[in-house]
Amino acid sequence: MKVIRTKNYQEMSKMAANFILDKVKSSSELTLGLATGGTPVQTYHYLAKDYQEQKTSYQHVTTFNLDEYIGLDPSDPNSYHYYMDKHFFSKVNIPSDQTFIPNGLAENLEKECQAYDEEIKKHNGIDLQLLGLGTNGHVGFNEPGTAFDQHTHIVALTESTMQANARFFNNINQVPNRAITMGIASIMESKEILLLVSGKEKNDALNKLLHGEIDKHFPASVLNQHENVTIIADEDAIINT
Ligand code: GLP
Repeated sequence: MKVIRTKNYQEMSKMAANFILDKVKSSSELTLGLATGGTPVQTYHYLAKDYQEQKTSYQHVTTFNLDEYIGLDPSDPNSYHYYMDKHFFSKVNIPSDQTFIPNGLAENLEKECQAYDEEIKKHNGIDLQLLGLGTNGHVGFNEPGTAFDQHTHIVALTESTMQANARFFNNINQVPNRAITMGIASIMESKEILLLVSGKEKNDALNKLLHGEIDKHFPASVLNQHENVTIIADEDAIINT
């Protein structure tokens, strides 16, 4: 894994945006895997700023988001649909039929998972997958203990993930306890991975990822087996690792 260290969150975000822009500009067709959460917010901001100033086109880009809560309507401000529209899709010229996010309201959730995997396959897989890191090592919503051979599936969220994400809701009781997520296998099949890590609360998790064993109880550890991973981490996240 290639590790890039930055001074702070802003610098990490700028670098991540440039990393993504390089791919967007240099390809005639591109499939991006996208992440939500607090970490990539500023990366999307820099991509939006670039679009305002440079008009880098996304007409040839298709995106697949990692995950979505089960039971939240796309118009719910806490849904990942809402997040993506707000921070990115509405700010650039990506056609709406080229952006995919699991449907957490699907009547048949199992079918939704299968259909999502098929759609990814139809697009010849993901060229670049953007990832954040949960404090317990989760990636997407793949919680500790998740088998490494799973594709898109339904998960029960752990107490610690619900606690960590409660900051976006009025209170923890509003945090859905289930989600649809791409699996570890889906993530590992992407051709390239860009992992962003910021803040001192991620310091232990990054340390484990860089120096620990590969273990399904720390899902991110699997990234050590992927041959094309870049980590951009800020000083607070990487200090003493
Ligand atoms: C959330 C998301 C993940 C995200 C991670 C870290 O639960 N499902 O995709 O990468 O946890 O979130 P944050 O960037 O807010 O710390």
